[in-house]
Amino acid sequence: MARLDVTEVFHGISFPGHLHTQDSLQLALKFTFKDTDILIASYPKSGTTWMQEIVTLITSRGDPHLCQTVPNWTRAPWLEQHYFATLLEASSTTPRVITTHLPHHLLVPVLQGSKAKVIYVSRNPKDVVVSFYHFHKMANFLPEPGPFPGFLNRFLEGTLHFGSWFEHVKGWTSHTAAINNLLHITYEEMSLDLRGTVKRVSSFLQCPLVEDEVNNCAEHCSFGSMRDNKMSNYTLIPEGIMDHSKGAFMRKGVIGDWRNMFTEEQNQYFDSVFASKMQGCALEFVWAKSNGEETP
Ligand code: A3P
Repeated sequence: MARLDVTEVFHGISFPGHLHTQDSLQLALKFTFKDTDILIASYPKSGTTWMQEIVTLITSRGDPHLCQTVPNWTRAPWLEQHYFATLLEASSTTPRVITTHLPHHLLVPVLQGSKAKVIYVSRNPKDVVVSFYHFHKMANFLPEPGPFPGFLNRFLEGTLHFGSWFEHVKGWTSHTAAINNLLHITYEEMSLDLRGTVKRVSSFLQCPLVEDEVNNCAEHCSFGSMRDNKMSNYTLIPEGIMDHSKGAFMRKGVIGDWRNMFTEEQNQYFDSVFASKMQGCALEFVWAKSNGEETP
């Protein structure tokens, strides 16, 4: 199933047809979660693959075997993608780890009655848009990004594939979110305190680890380890689908790369759109406090 140029529009949001069909998207909204399931939810480029690695390592008590022998999309498949049912059927791992980029409002009905544990990962949207821009250049299943200014505008309008970052984050983190068992972790927390993140996630998953196991988890999900792990760096994906000559999936892995891309004018415009779209949102932005940045 190549469908590299196909776009599926579902509930007003565009999805790459290479990975999604109307059927696979519909099926996601009818999925029955088990109480033992772990769901990783995120807007693309927010640290999804990193959290998949962290969760796999925690549930393996720091043993890297699973991370180093099974691709991330098999050990934590995307709920809405067309291969999901096949992978889940073939998988015997407990607990099941499932990933999604769907917005909160589409999944609330199926999550509401469930005790599945949800980990929502967010990232400074300025770094998200820069990472997404570079990813569009290498991912042949995403549209040509064109020049950065236009791409940035489409991100702010919410018309890129996977929809609006603002609606995604507000939906999953709002206090009225009707989902039990939700842990919100930011990319910035992961970056600034990886061991602390491992402990926080392991305690949320009720999988307490001893110090050595925490150290092993942190070691095997460091940027360097994941960049060199072909089960998480996407180099297993053929060139025709991801053009590795145009960039690496594990690109920079840092906070604040947006500064190398944004003009002062773009930054000011971004801040004004951010202030207006996030008005009334009670979310505390960790990146605004911990790394000395005044704005997102
Ligand atoms: P950059 O493009 O800024 O480098 P996702 O998995 O949601 O698509 O996110 C991909 C982003 O997470 C990329 O960001 C990638 O480098 C970064 N990333 C993945 N693993 C990481 C790790 N262990 N440490 C830091 N960043 C990581």
